[in-house]
Amino acid sequence: MSEAARRWAELQSGRGIPPEILATAPADPWTHDPRDFRAPDVPADTPSRDAGLELLGAGGTVLDVGCGGGDAAFALAGPMTRVTGTDQQADMLAVFADGARERGVPCATVHGRWPDTAAGAGTADVVVCHHVLHNVVEPAPFLAALTAAATRGVVVEMLPEHPMAWLDPLWARFHDLHRPPSVTDADAVAVLGDLGVVGQVRRWERARRHPHDPAWVTRRLCLPPERTDEVASALARIPLRRRDAVTLFWRT
Ligand SMILES: C[S@@+](CC[C@H](N)C(=O)[O-])C[C@H]1O[C@@H](n2cnc3c(N)ncnc32)[C@H](O)[C@@H]1O
Repeated sequence: MSEAARRWAELQSGRGIPPEILATAPADPWTHDPRDFRAPDVPADTPSRDAGLELLGAGGTVLDVGCGGGDAAFALAGPMTRVTGTDQQADMLAVFADGARERGVPCATVHGRWPDTAAGAGTADVVVCHHVLHNVVEPAPFLAALTAAATRGVVVEMLPEHPMAWLDPLWARFHDLHRPPSVTDADAVAVLGDLGVVGQVRRWERARRHPHDPAWVTRRLCLPPERTDEVASALARIPLRRRDAVTLFWRT
């Protein structure tokens, strides 16, 4: 394992929830609600979409890894001739398949964890993978499999730090749990470099998002719903989530 991959694995492992806290959680703090991930009818005009469209040119196939509701792939509707979505959460794939049907794009879905699903998902002209990397502990096999699956190129979108890093002060406040610093996009670029991939990097600012609902944050923090008011007032005292995002893309 390279030094960059080791650093990534160490910092990411330090972001887990200790078993003694998880044991007290009244609800699953991890699962994403697929209703929050429906792709918009009109895609946001972003550097990730530009990169995907550039790779697709007049037309081609797309594989969306950690597809959720298909935000990344469906932003390429038009030149996208066929789409495959793969996700570890089966209910996301149902939303993804609905999205493809609504847009009239031929679609396949593959349930499971990337890179284990790589063989079943096959290859595509363009591979997109948005907001999944911060969920990964071993980045090298994950990124290498993205590269191997793409005949033209790969577009990865991520945040400059872990999407939940802004809640670190609340883990300290409610659980006396002190998180290590987050991995960053620079760490991802370093891992890619060790794989012999020199990607292009674009930094940009996302549209302002709705603040997270205190009930949602309470669940993420493994706390019972009765503590929602306490969480709401603590939330009001920490900095807002950052709005910047990063697009990494490379030709294969
Ligand atoms: C934050 S959501 C992003 C969804 C979508 N790509 C988007 O940008 O809206 C992360 C998604 O990746 C999935 N996921 C996380 N790790 C994965 C892995 N190793 N393999 C497959 N899916 C994964 C989760 O189930 C979830 O649907």
